[in-house]
Amino acid sequence: MSSHLPLALITHTLPEDWLRKLEGQCRIVIGPFDADRLAPELEQRLPEVEGILSLLTIPVSEEVLARAPLLRVVSNMAVGYDNIAVMACTRRGIPVGNTPGVLTEGAADLTMALLLAAARKLPQASQDAREGRWTTWSPTGWLGADLNGATLGIIGMGKIGAAVARRAAAFGMRIIYSDPNPNPVLEADLLAMRKSFEEVLTESDFLSLHCPLTHETRGLIDARVLRSMKPTAILINAARGPIVNSQALYKALDEGWIAAAALDVTDPEPLPPTDPLYSLPNCLIVPHIGSATRRTRRRMAELACENLLAGLRGERLPYCVNPEVYQ
Ligand code: DGY
Repeated sequence: MSSHLPLALITHTLPEDWLRKLEGQCRIVIGPFDADRLAPELEQRLPEVEGILSLLTIPVSEEVLARAPLLRVVSNMAVGYDNIAVMACTRRGIPVGNTPGVLTEGAADLTMALLLAAARKLPQASQDAREGRWTTWSPTGWLGADLNGATLGIIGMGKIGAAVARRAAAFGMRIIYSDPNPNPVLEADLLAMRKSFEEVLTESDFLSLHCPLTHETRGLIDARVLRSMKPTAILINAARGPIVNSQALYKALDEGWIAAAALDVTDPEPLPPTDPLYSLPNCLIVPHIGSATRRTRRRMAELACENLLAGLRGERLPYCVNPEVYQ
């Protein structure tokens, strides 16, 4: 491959055919399969690197940026981009790309799977069956919550929140939401109602988080919030772990302030196996698999490659989170 081609770092090993678009377009150095930080062999290339294709687990911090004077694009293979020092990129005129749209349906499916599993106590029921505690058809065994007629509160009515709302409405749920912007289409189609954050907390039987992680939302779901929810409520977090205060959540689940939680995301990630949340029977935890379908992950990689290539060519990124760099 020509050494005139720009150098790009791919922070993790990805299937070769997901990166096909890059062939002949740039030189690439690829990090290990299980990287949880920028691998040393990638770090040492920072002085000559022009593009980075990152995953949400790798911080593209101010420090990383400072060591990459030639950097012209950061492309995150995720819709969220809280791992990237976006403001520092913007100051340097570096566009940051993300992958919106392609994971909306997959993430909404997983949210519903979590909601249903927690509502109907699937993890406990499955474990009891395997471990010999299914001794009869028990009229009072494994009783869960009904979805039909229940109120689902959605915090953050973006693309994923809206896709969850549509699915939940098909289950007969009433939809309320809190978001800075109204969604007139959902209000017309589903009779969804926009309410204050406090109203959503107190009225919801299920509360599902779909807001980005920002300064404002970090720790948003704290002890005060959890105490204001119904004791029968179920919390679903498939957004970002640090939106929920983990210590407060542990207390809330242990002491019965709320009934259950189902988490696709945690703080930290990965959540160590010794974490007390795992000891709670009413806390379902899965390892950040919201977008983990074959089609979705391939599309995310393809969009990330498109953003990377556009940036390396000096073209506008198709999906840019800091378009002000073009002004
Ligand atoms: C994202 O893209 O931000 C998701 O969290 C990945 O599952």
